[in-house]
Amino acid sequence: MCGIVGYLGSNQAAPVLLSKLRVLEYRGYDSAGVAVIEGGRLNVIKSVGKLSNLETLLQKERPAATVGIGHTRWATHGSPTDANAHPHIDESGTLAVVHNGIIENYSELRDELTGLGFEFRSDTDTEVAAHLVAYEYAKTKDILAAIVATVVRMRGAYALGIVSQNEPDRIFAVNHHYSLVVGLGDKESFLASDSAAVRQYTNKILRLEQSEIAEITACGVRLFDFQGKEQFREPATLNGDPYHIDKEGYKHFLLKEIHEQPLVLRQTLSKYVRSQNKPIDFNIEQFAAEADGEGLYGVRLTEDEIKSVERILIVACGTAYHAGLVGKYILEELCGIPVEVEIASEIRGRRLLVNDKTLTIAVSQSGETADTLAAIKEAISLGSFTLGITNRPDSHLARITPNLVVTECGIEVSVAATKTYSAQLVCFYLLAIYMAEIRGTLSAPEAAKVKKSLLQIPALVEQVLARAEDYKKASLEMSEAKGAVFIGRGLNYPTALEGALKLKELSYIHASGYAAGELKHGPIAVLDASVPVVTVLVPGKVYEKTLSNAQESRARQAKMVAVVVDGDELAPQTFDHLLSIPPVDEFVSPLLTVVPLQLMSYFVADFLGKDVDQPRNLAKSVTVE
Ligand code: F6R
Repeated sequence: MCGIVGYLGSNQAAPVLLSKLRVLEYRGYDSAGVAVIEGGRLNVIKSVGKLSNLETLLQKERPAATVGIGHTRWATHGSPTDANAHPHIDESGTLAVVHNGIIENYSELRDELTGLGFEFRSDTDTEVAAHLVAYEYAKTKDILAAIVATVVRMRGAYALGIVSQNEPDRIFAVNHHYSLVVGLGDKESFLASDSAAVRQYTNKILRLEQSEIAEITACGVRLFDFQGKEQFREPATLNGDPYHIDKEGYKHFLLKEIHEQPLVLRQTLSKYVRSQNKPIDFNIEQFAAEADGEGLYGVRLTEDEIKSVERILIVACGTAYHAGLVGKYILEELCGIPVEVEIASEIRGRRLLVNDKTLTIAVSQSGETADTLAAIKEAISLGSFTLGITNRPDSHLARITPNLVVTECGIEVSVAATKTYSAQLVCFYLLAIYMAEIRGTLSAPEAAKVKKSLLQIPALVEQVLARAEDYKKASLEMSEAKGAVFIGRGLNYPTALEGALKLKELSYIHASGYAAGELKHGPIAVLDASVPVVTVLVPGKVYEKTLSNAQESRARQAKMVAVVVDGDELAPQTFDHLLSIPPVDEFVSPLLTVVPLQLMSYFVADFLGKDVDQPRNLAKSVTVE
């Protein structure tokens, strides 16, 4: 959450900072700002609201500067206002700080600084860092020593960018259990929270370690630990292409990303499936050469280790948690191993019962979600095997889990996850087949059958997408709803949860997902004509029971919508609107049933005029706990 950028070189800093902030806007869009050294003086330009507001200011002011830092904010301490926007300056107005994360003891530090006569201009925790560095600098005139003296006093997980007019040829960066990269170009250097924002300019990057300070000049970087001791490390070379961020004719990134699902599913499948009759290929050696110069991916667990697993724990947040719930069904079904799925933030402050017979799987599109990282770190410390499923092989998660399965989605720009969810599901199917074949719980012909079903999915998703216009009508009726209830059973219970999450985050209509059988244990009380019920109904083991639960809802005058397969003869008697999909094997159906729900949420949000790609109050990468 929040994005930090920096630049030093011979080009104008403001346009470079702005273009990097554009790449990081997914991390927060409450306000944005830059601090540049212009004619030897610090100039801070910032504005509440989207990055476009800052862009307008910069176009007007056109600061002539070749050194600067910038920030895009997701508010934690203090509401989104101009005063709370970063950068924050010290009292003399010569030093500016941008900040990600949380300074947990800020209130104590603020009291102390107030006692020393410092005046605070914002409600943020960040301002503490600006005053502390300035206070320490006044004592020694040594900025590195001042930063060291500051960081040892601050608790929490955070990253900082610092610029001072007293040190106009350098910027400083601090990483404490966060994420920051330095990009090294030809007589120019870059700083960013995410390598994607640096990759536009250079493929030579140095990632800051967990408690590290970087002194960055146009010609290079020096690294120091929190004792001020210099560290030495070579930069890595990124091999992949720079991210290409373009709506390609779609009205919104979200719509584009929903439509990219057949492609990303094919890409993810073809990465790991050689043929229907061959084992899943999670071979680490093969992918090592392709990894972005930063990490290896693949599964390193030996066959004996896989056979020794007695329990699986999946940790994740939000949509990734829903993918984990589907993963539970798949892994239990194919591998016969008990699986628990935990919301990662619920692991905190509790005894985590994992050991060397447990496999803990962290699922995270960004690989930077603070709660998920904290949970997996705890599992590592307790001796559990660990595996990450992520879209970012260059992420923090990728660096700490020895086993990594990567979704091949390209960048997901829209804040709401769609294509990465589908690709995470595919990874769970492949992982389950892989482990089940090794453990002998799935025969080769049975494995071939599941692989065959999976390989058919991209074409089926294409057919679903071709029906988008048919789904619009039901969607527009949903836009009048006071709230909505989504129900499903078994494998498609998580689909109901995900459908509800998509609707509420995109359209701001409150929606809840329930296991269909739970409806009559309480939630049914909310139903009336203004609260539609969306049922996920696929022929198979739980079809009749789900249909009965839907009928109970209909009896309460609720408007009834359902995702059903073509030719379902019973559905028209129960539902007002059918979101039909082609016939699909129940076991892989979550890959298909979610798509009409994604489209429905998109149509509702767009119809209501909501900010589809950047819904209010959200950020794509949730790096605070
Ligand atoms: C919802 C959504 C979020 C994320 C959650 C976890 O559309 O995108 O619920 O799924 O914040 O993020 P990652 O997967 O990056 O750990």
